[in-house]
Amino acid sequence: DLGENLIDISDYQALAKRRLPKFLFDFLEGDAEDGFARSNNAQSLNSVQLMPQRLVDVGEVQTKVDYWQERASMPLVLAPTALTRMFHHQGELAVACAAEKQSVPYVLSTMSSVALEDVYAANPNTWFQLYAYRDRAISQRLIQRVVEQQGRVLCVTLDAFEGGNRQADRRNGLRLPFKASLKHITDAARRPKWSADYLRGEPINLANMKEVQAQADGTSLFEYVASQMNPSLTWDDIHWIRDSFPGTVILKGLLHPQDVLKAKALGVDGVVLSNHGGRQLDHSISGFQALQLLPKGLSNDIKVFIDGEIRRGTDIVKAMCLGAAGCFVGRPYLYGLAAHGQPGVEAILDILNSELVRNLKLIGCASISELNAGLVMARET
Ligand code: FNR
Repeated sequence: DLGENLIDISDYQALAKRRLPKFLFDFLEGDAEDGFARSNNAQSLNSVQLMPQRLVDVGEVQTKVDYWQERASMPLVLAPTALTRMFHHQGELAVACAAEKQSVPYVLSTMSSVALEDVYAANPNTWFQLYAYRDRAISQRLIQRVVEQQGRVLCVTLDAFEGGNRQADRRNGLRLPFKASLKHITDAARRPKWSADYLRGEPINLANMKEVQAQADGTSLFEYVASQMNPSLTWDDIHWIRDSFPGTVILKGLLHPQDVLKAKALGVDGVVLSNHGGRQLDHSISGFQALQLLPKGLSNDIKVFIDGEIRRGTDIVKAMCLGAAGCFVGRPYLYGLAAHGQPGVEAILDILNSELVRNLKLIGCASISELNAGLVMARET
């Protein structure tokens, strides 16, 4: 391994690429169609520059933030990702433990490969990501299970009722349920460490959805769950979810400022401005751009998270300057997980935290709460 040369997220990305079979690395990286939405996520962050202020005492800097009743060590949230055990046999459990150890929230996906009860047992502060189903009883049951675990935050994802056009996955023949083709076996044979790790775990399954297996009625659980995604979901359903869950409700996958106003009017507690890492609608604006389109002051009334290509402490600084409550990251922690399991996820959190501390000092702010719009400037084109 690269050992001490692993100094930033891109080093872990390179290591994940060397560790994972090609079809899996492609799935991890996956973007929709021509990849404009994903590359724009990075470009939009680069279109804002920082204006540091000098002679502020930054002998000690504070990165802690509060999310509802929770204290987090920094304004970073581990985003929900499906079937995480594909990348390491401990999957979601490893991520949940790393998050607990470093006091950052982790959002467990509905589509997880470890059952939510097992993840809550490892980390009781886990947040849960819900996909809303055609059959309300399925959503209701998932919500109930989260309540039984005393889960406090429900994150409803609204941008993936239809699968994005991930062309690499289609070319690689990656379909769920996974059926190994000759190409997959050849890819895996080139990655003996990954293959040995994969064979240590149980077969990958939608661990939260086993209860609906009976309804799947002949079709595979994966196909049944995909057919149950609800493209007819409207704001009325959000009313229902809001009323069904006693804790904090946040909506993920909004981009339009009008939608954020509607969310606020409905009494939801937060939103995640996101284009799903560029994996859904190509050419959609980035969460970072959406943040800048919000009416002034709105982010005082509702917590506004963003995600999409957050890879550096400076990316977090820019989002916080412009009023974000924090940033979600997806692929970065999966790189760490694929590279080294739980210690790899911890290393990713360490890297982002130490970059954030350094950048706070260099911009001249002793704490996250001091970051403000006066410290950024749009890059001239
Ligand atoms: C995701 N994402 C996602 N989102 C969600 O709400 N439920 C899910 O099950 C998944 N699954 C998933 C799998 C993989 C492999 C990736 C990379 C992403 C989207 C994720 O939560 C987040 O919005 C993006 O990953 C953020 O972009 P970055 O940080 O990956 O650039």
